[in-house]
Amino acid sequence: MVLKLKDLGKAVLETEYAVRGPIVARAQELERAGREIVYCNIGNPQALKQKPLTYLRQVLALCEYPELANGTAREMFPRDVHETAQTILSGSKHGIGAYSESKGIRVVREAVADFIKRRDGVPTDPELIYLTDGASKGVQTILRMVIADDNDGVMIPIPQYPLYSATLTLYGSKQVGYYLDEAHDWKLSRMMLEESIREAKSKGIRVRAICVINPGNPTGSVLDADNIEMVIRFAKDHNLAIIADEVYQENVYKPGDKFVSFAKVLHGLKEKEVSLFSFHSCSKGFLGECGHRGGYFEVRNVPQDVVDQITKLQSVSLCSNVPGQVVTYLMVKPPKEGDPSYPTYKKERDTILDALKLRAQVLMNGLNKVEGIQCNEVTGAMYAFPKITLPKEKTDAEYCMALLESKGICVVPGTGFGQFPGTSHFRITILPPTDKIEKVVKDIGDFHREFCKK
Ligand SMILES: Cc1ncc(COP(=O)(O)O)c(C=O)c1O
Repeated sequence: MVLKLKDLGKAVLETEYAVRGPIVARAQELERAGREIVYCNIGNPQALKQKPLTYLRQVLALCEYPELANGTAREMFPRDVHETAQTILSGSKHGIGAYSESKGIRVVREAVADFIKRRDGVPTDPELIYLTDGASKGVQTILRMVIADDNDGVMIPIPQYPLYSATLTLYGSKQVGYYLDEAHDWKLSRMMLEESIREAKSKGIRVRAICVINPGNPTGSVLDADNIEMVIRFAKDHNLAIIADEVYQENVYKPGDKFVSFAKVLHGLKEKEVSLFSFHSCSKGFLGECGHRGGYFEVRNVPQDVVDQITKLQSVSLCSNVPGQVVTYLMVKPPKEGDPSYPTYKKERDTILDALKLRAQVLMNGLNKVEGIQCNEVTGAMYAFPKITLPKEKTDAEYCMALLESKGICVVPGTGFGQFPGTSHFRITILPPTDKIEKVVKDIGDFHREFCKK
């Protein structure tokens, strides 16, 4: 048969993923026709000229082509690069062209367990860590696990990263949105959570889990330990599992703010009755290795028979891509002070993080100078989500399309992430190079005035 649109299921047809939607398609069309486009629609740092870390690419090169170690790379690459590649290759047993265990190479999972232990001071078990193709695949696996039937729902923030809304739609389950408080730096409040679950229950939805994105996408806000504790207590009171999306844990910019993991707070509370699934990724932070599709999730307070089911689900796709697993190893086990690669690694890392911090400031300050644009402080992650005041008859989708046509700047309308009824926003990344971001801000200001005048 020829598969026709009408043959497709409702879930597929209704799945939407705004960060790669019609505005991006139009941007690509304009680019093919010769226009210069600044892609601020997606957190893809290397597409906006962020350089990969030298150490990481050197180890990867040796893992992909071990013969290099006896050729040109022998003198060129520092000693620790050779040693790390050797450790990974021995751990993978058959090299990186072979399938690994379904959970991922044990040596990499041990490195992840060590990383969590160092970061949080909590006990960890490599057997409760799964290596994944980016965080996305892991999130999808866990959402699949928690949804038992089409009456089940999962709490997701509004605004949220559309991986969650899209996956829940695809799995035929219910999105239970909870609002983040824009007037208070996008903080979470127990009142908002209670309100959201009360409404879901009144519609007969069985709520199974709550997703929290910290630091937030698209909001850029960073939760403190008290906020996290509040979510854990809420989850316990309502019998929910927690899905903690912590892919931006290295992207915290405000002096005094600090990333705190759900695992650490859960352990501190000695809480055994709330299952926790925590996610991390090689795509964000200062690595920005989106294309390598590396990441992991860790499970806590999950009985062994459920762990076995997760492993079974993971084994359906055999394993995550092995070069991505190598990148995950390098993310969680970077060179240490005293290693030959350390000075370059540190310099590259600090340069990237300093630039992100500066761009977050430039973007926020610049946007806030435009009448009709109001932007909360970008304290973390890679985005600003400014509120825009639009002429009555205009939508944020029209605004973003017009911005693209007029200035060649590609951003995503707030509707793609969810927003409080009656408000309009757009999401913009802080990733354009520093010399470009000032122009981006100026162009948005000029465009905004023009658009509102019309
Ligand atoms: C909050 C959040 N979670 C997960 C992801 C998925 O990233 P990846 O699959 O590349 O790890 C992203 C990507 O932008 C994100 O913003």
